[in-house]
Amino acid sequence: MGHNLLKGKRGIIFGALDELSIAWKTAERAHEEGATFVLTNAPIAMRMGKINELAAKTGSEIIPADATDEADLEALVSKSMEILGGKIDFVLHSIGMSVNVRKGREYTDQKYDWTAKGWDVSALSFHKVMQTLYKADAMSEWGSILALTYMAAQRTFPDYNDMADNKAYLESIARSFGYFFGTEKKVRVNTISQSPTPTTAGKGVKGFDAFINYAEKMSPLGNATASECADYSITLFSDLTRKVTMQNLFHDGGFSSTGVSQQIIDSFSE
Ligand SMILES: NC(=O)c1ccc[n+]([C@@H]2O[C@H](COP(=O)([O-])OP(=O)(O)OC[C@H]3O[C@@H](n4cnc5c(N)ncnc54)[C@H](O)[C@@H]3O)[C@@H](O)[C@H]2O)c1
Repeated sequence: MGHNLLKGKRGIIFGALDELSIAWKTAERAHEEGATFVLTNAPIAMRMGKINELAAKTGSEIIPADATDEADLEALVSKSMEILGGKIDFVLHSIGMSVNVRKGREYTDQKYDWTAKGWDVSALSFHKVMQTLYKADAMSEWGSILALTYMAAQRTFPDYNDMADNKAYLESIARSFGYFFGTEKKVRVNTISQSPTPTTAGKGVKGFDAFINYAEKMSPLGNATASECADYSITLFSDLTRKVTMQNLFHDGGFSSTGVSQQIIDSFSE
């Protein structure tokens, strides 16, 4: 069901770990829409993941890069332009990890080395990716840069832990860098705030199964899936959204604007 929305466009896609990953679905959709792109992930994820399958399927090359490592990012950007034959039109940052969440440390009992690591991977890496692209003048005019986020940046969800703070920082970087990318290079920068989604990162959050059911019942349109998130991302990479920038865009079936739903009310009345 391609519409050639990304015909001739060149991209870099971070974060496809397996077929559940939001980045994986986005790569498949971008391929359907006529884009060519480079796939990248942390070297360690590459050994565990199945990214080779995705690369074969989409005719893409893989360049390993730790998104916290400036030298890796510089090599990634210059090699991508070489492989793709020109400047980059779209970039997806689909990266997140909290060591405190992984190791079961509560928000009120963080190990700050782990907090710093999670912040570097989940938030500052977005700045590092953009600064690398900016300095190399690697983005085409009217290009589009996108990162994924979650509503815990605005409202508290206790089990989201230090990732809430990382997402708040990530969203702020999108606005701050969006200013410079807009004025200097005519490039847009946005974040998509996605529904809870059953991926490796998502399922790592404590109480995920109960929470995704709750969100489903709270959202007038139901939770947005990873495939639907991929569809939305394609529109933001396309030429149909050129003046959308510095925004945090909720893609959540209406969850973020709903105070309570009838289904939730019903579950509380005897
Ligand atoms: N799953 C959800 O419920 C949900 C909801 C809203 C937003 N998000 C966000 O979507 C994005 C993608 O996550 P996902 O749900 O597809 O899970 P995922 O586990 O499939 O993807 C996370 C990716 O981050 C990569 N990564 C971790 N450390 C890295 C590093 N140092 N360098 C480069 N890559 C690194 C992992 O290898 C993995 O591919 C994340 O930003 C996540 O926070 C997820």
